[in-house]
Amino acid sequence: MNIIVVKDYKEMSRKAAKIMASQVILKPDSILGLATGSTPIGMYEELIRMYKNGDLDFSSVKTFNLDEYYGLNKENEQSYYNFMMKNLFKHVNVKKENINIPDGMAMDTEKECLKYEKKIEASGGIDMQVLGIGANGHIGFNEPYESFEPITHLVKLDEKTIKDNSRFFNSVDEVPKTALSMGIKTIMMSKKIILLASGESKKEAIIKTIKGKISPEVPASILQLHKDVTFILDEKAAEEL
Ligand code: F6R
Repeated sequence: MNIIVVKDYKEMSRKAAKIMASQVILKPDSILGLATGSTPIGMYEELIRMYKNGDLDFSSVKTFNLDEYYGLNKENEQSYYNFMMKNLFKHVNVKKENINIPDGMAMDTEKECLKYEKKIEASGGIDMQVLGIGANGHIGFNEPYESFEPITHLVKLDEKTIKDNSRFFNSVDEVPKTALSMGIKTIMMSKKIILLASGESKKEAIIKTIKGKISPEVPASILQLHKDVTFILDEKAAEEL
């Protein structure tokens, strides 16, 4: 386990972008696992900047997002599809056919999840997966639970997650109550993982993840078993370490 502590959000974003960029430079046809949320926005901005400077080329890259709210269509302002378009894809040259995000409107969720899982497998597996972390220790939308959910599945979102994510919606009632998310095994199969965390609200989840018991009650704690995981934390998120 590799732990990098940096001063603040900006430095975290720059460090993460450099790691992602080196992955794409070394393997132009990388399979990237991507996250949404507030945490990776700065990293995406840096990647866009590098692309615009001519230092990065995404034309052979394939991407798989961790998750999508269930019941929101692509056009919905709050869908993760829309988030990814706005914060990364429309600014860089990832080919549309190489972008993969679970379909939040799939009628048959089981079929959609299986299809997603198979597509990741057929691509050769994720080379580098980016993760944020929930204040309750979730990764993707793998919420604290009595067991680890292995593969892409339909999740019932935790009350805490619904409350935390309500900041992006007009009211808490508008936050979808379910989502499609990669599973723990899907994430753990990634060849490399980088987990980004910034701010005091993440410090408890971080200490439990890195130093606590491995338990499905803190889903991110499973990362202790991954052979190539790097935590990029700002000072506030790392405060308890
Ligand atoms: C998003 C995702 C989530 C977030 C987590 C942290 O695709 O999978 O696990 O990474 O909820 O969200 P922020 O970054 O908004 O604090």
